[in-house]
Amino acid sequence: MIYSRIAGTGSYLPEQIVSNADLEKLVDTTDEWIASRTGIRERRKAAEGETTGDLAFHASTRALEAAGVAASEIELIVLGTTTPDIIFPSTACLLQHRLGANGCAAFDVNAACSGFMYALGVADQFVRSGQVKKALVVGAETLTRMLDYSDRSTCVLFGDGAGAVVLEASSEPGILTTRLHADGGYKHLLYNPVGVSAGFRHDEPNAGVRVMMTGNEVFKVAVKTLDRMVGETLNAAGMAEKDVDWLIPHQANLRIIEATAKRLKLPMERVIVTVDRHGNTSSGSVPLALDEAVRSGKVQRGQNLLLEAFGGGFTWASALLRY
Ligand code: ACO
Repeated sequence: MIYSRIAGTGSYLPEQIVSNADLEKLVDTTDEWIASRTGIRERRKAAEGETTGDLAFHASTRALEAAGVAASEIELIVLGTTTPDIIFPSTACLLQHRLGANGCAAFDVNAACSGFMYALGVADQFVRSGQVKKALVVGAETLTRMLDYSDRSTCVLFGDGAGAVVLEASSEPGILTTRLHADGGYKHLLYNPVGVSAGFRHDEPNAGVRVMMTGNEVFKVAVKTLDRMVGETLNAAGMAEKDVDWLIPHQANLRIIEATAKRLKLPMERVIVTVDRHGNTSSGSVPLALDEAVRSGKVQRGQNLLLEAFGGGFTWASALLRY
């Protein structure tokens, strides 16, 4: 049996910190409102000219270094993003060239905040089937590029960042299961109206920089769906709640994270939380949290990790793995 195993992790955050106090100067909000509703205290913002591909490159070089793998050994790059550098080529192709991994398969996955989890699920299948031995999986975003800084209901939530993992074929587990889901019927609750085929929407003010979200509705569906998915994931791996050492969730809202931890009967000390410092970095959030947990020494080899995300689409996805 072939498993894919995480050989190394890496992440990167842009330098500029935007605090809740900074946002108080832009919109009618307060640090108290943002922190109590979301858990967010600050987030990062990419510098002018700094792209998703730049963030992905730094995160990837750190993951390759941690894995002791050369870029030339990588046979597959899957990159989750909803904020690509340009429409095409894909950010994965731009990254591939910059890393010097030319020739291997490289493509983007757009699953909004579940982008990294989808990318991980896809890459895992390639490794398990024996098609590739080493894969680079990335989640990278510059969500602040599509924020309307006069809309208090969305601009306080998101930040920029990237994370990456190197997967390696192994006879030992590894990723035990990945679960990927979507329901496009929920498009209206969370979307960006800017189109290519649908038109660039010059008619809408700020159409080019808008995340449209009915936050409280998204919240309710997210909590219910993640609750269900946790059970499905444990079943698929033949595990129980007590077998999970760490929950590494998508970092959208501390209250959503707490609800999932409760479902898993896990104390918050066993949950990796970065939302306070990163905000919601969409596809970047799970691999950023994972890398932080690994580098801080919290997550140890041999432990069982439950990774999950929920986002626009709606999409939702999880992975249970032995680190
Ligand atoms: N500051 C102050 N007040 C605000 C702000 C703000 N930044 N934003 C909204 N409000 C107001 C609203 O206008 C509303 O006022 P009203 O009662 O007078 O109408 C009030 O606060 C309550 O608004 P709600 O939206 O009901 O607040 P809620 O408690 O639901 O929190 C939040 C909003 C934080 C967005 C929450 O619903 C949430 O986190 N939702 C889920 C987000 C998520 O998980 N998204 C998925 C991933 S994102 C992706 O895929 C790209």
